[in-house]
Amino acid sequence: MSAASAIIQKTPIFGKMFKVDTKNGLEAINAWPALIVMTSFVWLGIAALLGLLMPVIQYYELNTNLFYTSLTLHGAAMAFPFAFQLMVGVSLHRAGGCQGKKANGPLVVLFYIFMNIGALLLTLAVLGGFKVTYTVMFPLPVVGVQTGQWSMEMLILGFSGIALVLISMIFLYPIQVLRMLFFSEKHENLVLSPRTLRDPGMLGMLIAVLILLITGLPLMSVATPILLALYGILPMSMVTWAVEPVVFQFVFYIFAHNLMEAMAIMIVSAVYGTLPLYLADGTRKLYSDKLANAALWILLVTSLTSFFHHFYTMFPALPSTFSYHGNIMSWGTGLGGAFTIFTILATIWKHGIRPEPGMIMILAGFVIYVLDGVTAMVVANVALSFHLHGTMWTGGHAMTVLLAMSLMWMGVLYHHYPVITGRSLDDDRGKSSTKYYFFGGVGLMYAFMAGGASGMPRRIANWSEGGYMFIGILILIFGIMLFYGIILFLTNLSKSRELATE
Ligand code: HEM
Repeated sequence: MSAASAIIQKTPIFGKMFKVDTKNGLEAINAWPALIVMTSFVWLGIAALLGLLMPVIQYYELNTNLFYTSLTLHGAAMAFPFAFQLMVGVSLHRAGGCQGKKANGPLVVLFYIFMNIGALLLTLAVLGGFKVTYTVMFPLPVVGVQTGQWSMEMLILGFSGIALVLISMIFLYPIQVLRMLFFSEKHENLVLSPRTLRDPGMLGMLIAVLILLITGLPLMSVATPILLALYGILPMSMVTWAVEPVVFQFVFYIFAHNLMEAMAIMIVSAVYGTLPLYLADGTRKLYSDKLANAALWILLVTSLTSFFHHFYTMFPALPSTFSYHGNIMSWGTGLGGAFTIFTILATIWKHGIRPEPGMIMILAGFVIYVLDGVTAMVVANVALSFHLHGTMWTGGHAMTVLLAMSLMWMGVLYHHYPVITGRSLDDDRGKSSTKYYFFGGVGLMYAFMAGGASGMPRRIANWSEGGYMFIGILILIFGIMLFYGIILFLTNLSKSRELATE
């Protein structure tokens, strides 16, 4: 039995949900992905509870610091050790099964360690006072030290954690996927559903990891000297160029924005890979592979420079020509989205669909993703951004895109679950979990949008005084619905039945 399977078996509560089938000869593509996915759900459990805690803290006007601690941990945990890690686990299994390559080895182990130890270090720093949003604006973390809000030690601890997480996302995971796509040895017994790079389901995966690697390199070149200077290894005078806000801000958002785009391309490619398996007439083909691939290329080209939309309000520091370029490119991403919507609808219209729970989950997540895309088009407009920037609209957009993509990955996981664990899931519970997650997610999104449109700033601790408690109550109600959907999903995994005994 592999180390990963052994760790899963020893893990209380979650171990039962992800116990790997050790007899089907597929441990090499199942065990580490299962451990990675399981750990992502542990983070989700904690982060979701913190999400529900926030409106409660605001309602009872409890300690302000408690709100900022919950918010910072919630945002960071949902984005990295939950959503990103879930993507890594499921996509490594997919890549393994499509290419017949092992989804284990040193890079996978290092990914797991760096991502989770990094997230733990960041958690400790946040508990120690370091409370910056994961969409960090430099030099605010340093300003926090200067104004006595947190200590230099906590900043260094927090930055060290973020550095480990970044290394796992920018180097370890993409290089592992590239190895699996091009270099490592093929094992015929691991091939479950063979695909080539011409297939949209594989092409998207390649594009996504290249985006992570290429757009992450400038950030790592700037962040590394800063971290070395913070450790006292380099003199501060040597890194003054790197701490110029304009330098840091640009490299940070080139990566941070494209991180979201890479995650979107990765999940769209997984949808392209899974949808044909559920077509009613058994064709196993998308409406048009060419159109599907065109959508991925459009998403790639437009997303690269649409990151300017994070800086519209910095006019005149950001020349307005860049702002309008960002506006056009952001709307161009909408074009890629439209091609994707067309491909998915035309495929279903032409071949029909078997409404199995995993597929419904994927489509429900896709609907939230599209609805959130509309909110993104609005805030990506230069004029409207001046009204909505820094409000709950932007926080809500970031949150919704993550929760939509996560639901799609949960659907893809649902599809692969029997192969990974040798157990089957209860379809009714699967459909119910989708329903609660979907309505909770959509409700949360529109509550955040309503808050943003009425001027409610993001990350403020006085909703009551500002007259925004009604929005807070809506967030609590829809948050409970979404949370219940997650509980149903996990209960389903926990009560799964052995395939052989059916
Ligand atoms: C369980 C239900 C949830 C509730 C009640 C909830 C609630 C909240 C609240 C109140 C905020 C703070 C908004 C602000 O003041 O700026 C927030 C932010 C956020 N949430 Fe959630 N959330 C939930 C689920 C999720 C999920 C599933 C994800 C992602 C997969 C997510 C990702 C985020 C992110 C990224 C932020 C922004 C953090 C920041 O601005 O630094 N949330 N959420």
